[in-house]
Amino acid sequence: MKVKVNGVEYEDEVEPRTLLVDFLRDNLNLTGTKIGCDTTTCGACTVLVNGRSVKSCTMLAIQANGKEILTIEGLSSDSKLNPIQQAFKDNFALQCGYCTAGMIVQAHFILSHERDLSEEKVRDMIHGNICRCTGYQNIVNAILDASRRMRA
Ligand code: FES
Ligand code: FES
Repeated sequence: MKVKVNGVEYEDEVEPRTLLVDFLRDNLNLTGTKIGCDTTTCGACTVLVNGRSVKSCTMLAIQANGKEILTIEGLSSDSKLNPIQQAFKDNFALQCGYCTAGMIVQAHFILSHERDLSEEKVRDMIHGNICRCTGYQNIVNAILDASRRMRA
């Protein structure tokens, strides 16, 4: 299969049963994408496939053939945090960090599509991402803060 991940083209052989999340982590060593449940529940494995938010444990790697994928590693360059990552840091929006990559990729998806964000809308759009640690208030605050920073 051929895929473009974070702007880089990859060509690799995969077994038909390989999940996209396992391909990203095991074949490409992009371990920022986490596996929290493997059953489409937690959102820790969220990536963008052709710009759409996808739980990568729900998709076979081969289904991504010819597509473009964005993972958490593709959100920043030169070791600098992007505005969403910085907002998560500044708003104390993580504790163990296990949900964070999925939350931030989902936040990136939200902020790419929604300019007029309310707290309610953010809560609705992260309903597929579960955090076991923080409660959600700081995560919601961080996404709203990132939205303000990106508009400034
Ligand atoms: S690991 Fe994919 S949704 Fe939990
Ligand atoms: S920070 Fe621990 S699961 Fe969200």
